[in-house]
Amino acid sequence: MSKLWAGRFSKEIDKLADDFNSSIRFDSKMYKQDIKGSMAHAAMLAAQHIIGKDDSEKIIDCLGDILADIESGKLPIDPEAEDIHMFVEAELTSRIGDTGKKLHTARSRNDQVAVDLRMYLRDETDEIIASLKALLAVINEKASENIDTILPGYTHLQRAQPITFAHHLLAYAMMFSRDIVRLQDAVKHMNLSPLGSCALAGTTYNTDRESVAEALGFDGITLNSIDGVSDRDFCVELLSAYSVIMMHLSRFSEEVILWSSWEFKFVELDDSYTTGSSIMPQKKNPDMAELVRGKTGRVYGDLMGTLTMLKGLPLAYNKDMQEDKEAIFDAIETVKMCLGVFTPMIATMTVLKDNMYKAAQKGFINATDLADYMVKKGLPFRSAYKIVGQIVAHCIEKGEVLDTLPMESYKSFSDIFEDDLYNEISLETCVKTRISAGSTGPESVKKQIEYINKFLGE
Ligand code: ARG
Repeated sequence: MSKLWAGRFSKEIDKLADDFNSSIRFDSKMYKQDIKGSMAHAAMLAAQHIIGKDDSEKIIDCLGDILADIESGKLPIDPEAEDIHMFVEAELTSRIGDTGKKLHTARSRNDQVAVDLRMYLRDETDEIIASLKALLAVINEKASENIDTILPGYTHLQRAQPITFAHHLLAYAMMFSRDIVRLQDAVKHMNLSPLGSCALAGTTYNTDRESVAEALGFDGITLNSIDGVSDRDFCVELLSAYSVIMMHLSRFSEEVILWSSWEFKFVELDDSYTTGSSIMPQKKNPDMAELVRGKTGRVYGDLMGTLTMLKGLPLAYNKDMQEDKEAIFDAIETVKMCLGVFTPMIATMTVLKDNMYKAAQKGFINATDLADYMVKKGLPFRSAYKIVGQIVAHCIEKGEVLDTLPMESYKSFSDIFEDDLYNEISLETCVKTRISAGSTGPESVKKQIEYINKFLGE
């Protein structure tokens, strides 16, 4: 295919070099944004009397036809084209001849690709936000059903203190709500139009960049044309927000994997989100959760690759920057796929409340509450802590638990103990009496559920 830039050359590009250079394979995704951007540009060129009104209308009509033809499948995207920008322009010119050649006045592919990518990422990020909201709604629903479900809370993966499953799930709700805000912030930073920066130095034509920006839904224009074409901070910001989402999904996945093991058996995943083994008939594997955990690494890789690609680039545009798209498109696809299976996997998971409760009964997770009991009776916390440590050691030796250790044994450690201690250290009391803001107590948990509901309503 002869190149739109062929004028200066006496020889065609080598076939392998041409394939190597081409980005149509992945940037054809941006056809809609490319065409919309060109339409706004053509309208501005006429409004500013840079091209005639008739020419502009002809260009805009034809671009509309091209868009419809791509969408209906009538116009397949030519895999031999150099990139989506060249493809659309060549198609335009083949349909309306010389008029089509006027479109690229006061514009360059450098500002064109920068504007297309920002618009594309804006749209995709909206979709990811919607998926995160769906996940939040599922988590909040599950939390509402488990305000009284007691399980051990862990530190160092050792049983630590009793908590409710609602409280545990809501920790993830907080993470995902922050992820949404992070994405919204990144979009805010990105939502400035670089179009009209041209190759790097701006243009001699009397363009109106603001009107184009407004027509394309931007909040304004980038203020430096060199920065306009060479800035990819928005890719880095989004990729890091996507990486944090994956990190959260991965931690959650890790817990789902642990919880569905025979060792824990806190949850049972629905058959539709598990797989069997080709050899071991008893197996029900949490492959979806494992894959989400595994794919986190590739999104981190997309972030690292992009940062590394950018770090040595002189201003302004360099072809290295074409690599931004494969990385960020891969990250978007991965995040979308992961959220797509993770949310229904959580929605359909069965919570095995009895097993959670049984696990909470073991492991002395009410030891802190026993110490607090002694403090309420007048002992300093450190002294109480020491005595409870000795009682725990005694229980371990004798195969006892705090809940049923006889009163005479308690009395041998301190006179302070009375029969009311059994109620004070019951798992239910331990949870109910956690009254501090943000705690596992039911009042606090209800407030957290309300917060997420309000967040989703906004
Ligand atoms: N396909 C190119 C990219 O994605 C478009 C910009 C080309 N600009 C240039 N000066 N060669 O980066």
